[in-house]
Amino acid sequence: ITVYLNGEYLPLSQAKVSVLDRGFIFGDGVYEVVPAYQRKPFRLKEHIARLVRSLDKVSIQTGKDEAFWETLLTDLIQQSDWEDNYVYLQVTRGVAKRDHAFPNPPVAPTIFAMTCPLKRLTEQERQEGVKALSYPEMRWLHCDIKSISLLGNVLAKQYAVAHGVQEVVQFREGILTEGASSNIWVIKEGVIYAPKRDNRILEGIRYGLIEEFATQLNIPFVEADIAQSFVEEADELLQTSATREVVAITTYNHKPVGKGVPGPIFHQLRQTYDEVLA
Ligand code: PDD
Repeated sequence: ITVYLNGEYLPLSQAKVSVLDRGFIFGDGVYEVVPAYQRKPFRLKEHIARLVRSLDKVSIQTGKDEAFWETLLTDLIQQSDWEDNYVYLQVTRGVAKRDHAFPNPPVAPTIFAMTCPLKRLTEQERQEGVKALSYPEMRWLHCDIKSISLLGNVLAKQYAVAHGVQEVVQFREGILTEGASSNIWVIKEGVIYAPKRDNRILEGIRYGLIEEFATQLNIPFVEADIAQSFVEEADELLQTSATREVVAITTYNHKPVGKGVPGPIFHQLRQTYDEVLA
């Protein structure tokens, strides 16, 4: 496959980065995951805006404008080996002698991007939903930045896998935050409850999408601090991310959520998502 590295398009096997790259040494970088359907990017502007916000928050200066990112992502999606694919894009602070402080003067950031196959959930997987377990937070307090430093998320996801489930539902001091690599939604008595968009979660591009769908469908949408006990009593639990779109959590802490099958609000949101993609 063809990937992008620092201004060049080249085969994956030829894309090399120095061991002194600050991404490798410090996890000093940010990333994006942009899905594309039939080689058309989905919500490209929103993803680029979030990339620019992440870069700004960690003071990585690329000198690239939005048009640059748009062209890069669109080109890679066009050249992808897969019709449905997603772009993984990573920007680090670049290659420099090891020192925690930023290199002064700044060095050129390392910009890397590749496409991967987007394996959409099958109809059967949609009907079954996923299993999840609650998990106490172990992450830092800048979860709003799409940082490549993902050790907390990696350990959380591995906990899920080791326990035979697909995702964790994380809590910080008893308040719902998000999954290891997804946003989590709680449905109770016809209302969609969303964790507040603050430093405790990554605001998914699907966060705004679900909010739009809720307005369209006349479903009340409430941002709140959601207690662990409230999640246990949910009628429906949902998970969203670029790669999984929207999926129902049908088993939570080994117990069925609601009737143990995807519920009515899931079906409405899922149908609206399909209509937008059609
Ligand atoms: N992850 N929260 C976290 C911690 C995430 O890693 C993700 C996505 C989301 C959902 O964001 P979005 O709707 O923009 O995909 C929320 C991507 C898919 C990943 O790391 O692979």
